Amino acid sequence: MTQTIRSVGKGAANQSGAVVNKDAYAEAQDFLPINGLDHVEFWVGNARQASNYYRALWGFTPVAYAGLETGIRDRSSYVLRQHDITLVVTAPLTPDGEIAEHVRFHGDGVHDIAFAVDDVRSAWRETTSRGAQSYLEYAEAGSDEDGTLRRSAVHTYGEVIHSFIDRSDYRGVFAPGFRKVKKPARAAQGMDLLEIDHCVGNVELGEMNKFVDFYRDVFGFSQLIHYDDKVIHTEYSALMSKVMTNGNGRIKFPINEPATGRKKSQIQEYLDWYKTPGCQHIALRTEDIVRTVRTLRENGVEFLGLPHEYYATLADRVGDVGVPMETLEELGIEADRDEEGYLLQIFTRPVQDRPTFFFEIIERHGSRGFGVGNFKALFEAIEREQALRGNL
Ligand code: FE2
Repeated sequence: MTQTIRSVGKGAANQSGAVVNKDAYAEAQDFLPINGLDHVEFWVGNARQASNYYRALWGFTPVAYAGLETGIRDRSSYVLRQHDITLVVTAPLTPDGEIAEHVRFHGDGVHDIAFAVDDVRSAWRETTSRGAQSYLEYAEAGSDEDGTLRRSAVHTYGEVIHSFIDRSDYRGVFAPGFRKVKKPARAAQGMDLLEIDHCVGNVELGEMNKFVDFYRDVFGFSQLIHYDDKVIHTEYSALMSKVMTNGNGRIKFPINEPATGRKKSQIQEYLDWYKTPGCQHIALRTEDIVRTVRTLRENGVEFLGLPHEYYATLADRVGDVGVPMETLEELGIEADRDEEGYLLQIFTRPVQDRPTFFFEIIERHGSRGFGVGNFKALFEAIEREQALRGNL
């Protein structure tokens, strides 16, 4: 089952059942110009240890810190960077407040998927006037000797927010209240994680279209692809997914909802443990997935494993993907091809104790898809792990 992207108008399904909208980028509205993703912030139980996890296993360099030593009394935050990816891990310093409550309720998870914009006031006005719930109207997050950082924010699914960030008048390393890490501990070497490719949201049964409408009406995004439960199903469970994108294509947000099957959908497992809708996974793009995954594995990052049968027929399905099939199988990397090209991808196990958030590593060669040809094998791998957790 290989995803085939055809030049079809809206609503026409290709042979795999994936509906691709070739006009998605042109259809996206421009009332909310987004330059890209500024950063993703996780709220976690122990930010110091989380920052060392991303440094020592994933090769992120700690660049900024905020906490007691910088006059911040309620939280501690570490900013980590690798190429164009900026992650922030923040933990509460007190038992009260929204961070402590968030961690108690959800465990570790994504709090903020922040957009870089030129005008945070306009972004807030345009989105709230179209129905977004405000999280932060105040447009100047603060000033220090490095200038002024402007920020506003709105809510999206679950307790996730989207901040709007304008750095044009700010020269500091991250934000007021943060200090630069002068002598960062050595980051792990051998990774080439370049940028965030896409961020996936899991929402409740029946809510996918609500959030598709939300991203269309409130953010001006358009729908790029629709996978229905005939595409994404195994013997036991199913899910549905629609991918929303902005005008310049830099933002890609698949939205998943569980579909009913004989057993529990992996999306439902996420919702049961995260307790609300939330960010399921973030895909990090590399141009050397073999080297990156080999290093991540050596460093102790755990990935989902696919059975030998998947690889036995892979070459017939995808042809030459520039990497020997034995290497793909050795590292557990998957491949998929559509008419625009191919992609290589792999998924980690959940990166915290609850079976919730995980990462994907993706290397694209022309394909703008999401690996629909791998969905079935992948979901069967997830179900084997769900069964081990007693959650199938
Ligand atoms: Fe993905």
